Amino acid sequence: VTANHRRQDHDRARVAVVTGASSGIGEATARILARDGYRLALLARRTERIEALAAELGEGSLALTADVADRDSMLAAASRVEADLGPADVLVNNAGVMLLGPFSSSQHEEMRRMVETNLLGAIVAAEVFVGQLRAAHGDLVNVSSVAGRTVRAGNAVYAATKWGMGGWSESLRRELKPDVRVMLIEPGAVDTELPDHITDEDSRRGARKAYAESAISPLHIAETISFGLALPHEVSLNEIVIRPTVQTL
Ligand SMILES: NC(=O)c1ccc[n+]([C@@H]2O[C@H](COP(=O)([O-])OP(=O)(O)OC[C@H]3O[C@@H](n4cnc5c(N)ncnc54)[C@H](OP(=O)(O)O)[C@@H]3O)[C@@H](O)[C@H]2O)c1
Repeated sequence: VTANHRRQDHDRARVAVVTGASSGIGEATARILARDGYRLALLARRTERIEALAAELGEGSLALTADVADRDSMLAAASRVEADLGPADVLVNNAGVMLLGPFSSSQHEEMRRMVETNLLGAIVAAEVFVGQLRAAHGDLVNVSSVAGRTVRAGNAVYAATKWGMGGWSESLRRELKPDVRVMLIEPGAVDTELPDHITDEDSRRGARKAYAESAISPLHIAETISFGLALPHEVSLNEIVIRPTVQTL
């Protein structure tokens, strides 16, 4: 059963926009939603990766180079989606960076990038797509983290962005119902390139070690998002924590 069959009120293929679709959880989510019958708009900064994925997913998929921290590029992407695919039914707010390190020795630029990508970027993406989501009676999926419910030393700013996403999502859930459902997904360790971008050596080594021991495939996160989206619109899966079984944090 594809998403198109599930929604009797749609006579066109549903449209899903995924930010950060060039790798990891975003790429896996795009693949699974394409399998479910959605037409995909793939957003990220690395054009060649999203173009290759769009070509693989086939006709109806759109690769749009966009930086969630650049509002103009997101406005342009929202216009292209509406013009080329029709209004977005689903926005998966997934783009993010995890530049861990002790707060006292953190680089200002890295702290700013985390806030501007993970939190402000998600807010801007929702801002530019919310009209389309409302029109489509669609879904907003926010990819947070277990770091949005618990903290540890060395992830202060990353955790702040994810705690912010939690509060913001719950307020939006109350405001946007019944038109738009809001799903907050909070993964533990997932096997992606996320820790490879950490510049603080101790933090990168620690994260890689922890990931090597327990990280789960991003396909499990994608399947969970797919499950939530497939529920009838009157049912809203609001918050999901999903970890490797062995993970403590
Ligand atoms: N992996 C985990 O263990 C884990 C756990 C909990 C939560 N998460 C969350 O899951 C989300 C996806 O991360 P991932 O693990 O899949 O890592 P990833 O493989 O590094 O993917 C991150 C994605 O975000 C995109 N991105 C980064 N900055 C961007 C920007 N300014 N504008 C647009 N796209 C941007 C990247 O694409 P470009 O570089 O091409 O722009 C990439 O596609 C993040 O929000 C992360 O916090 C991950």
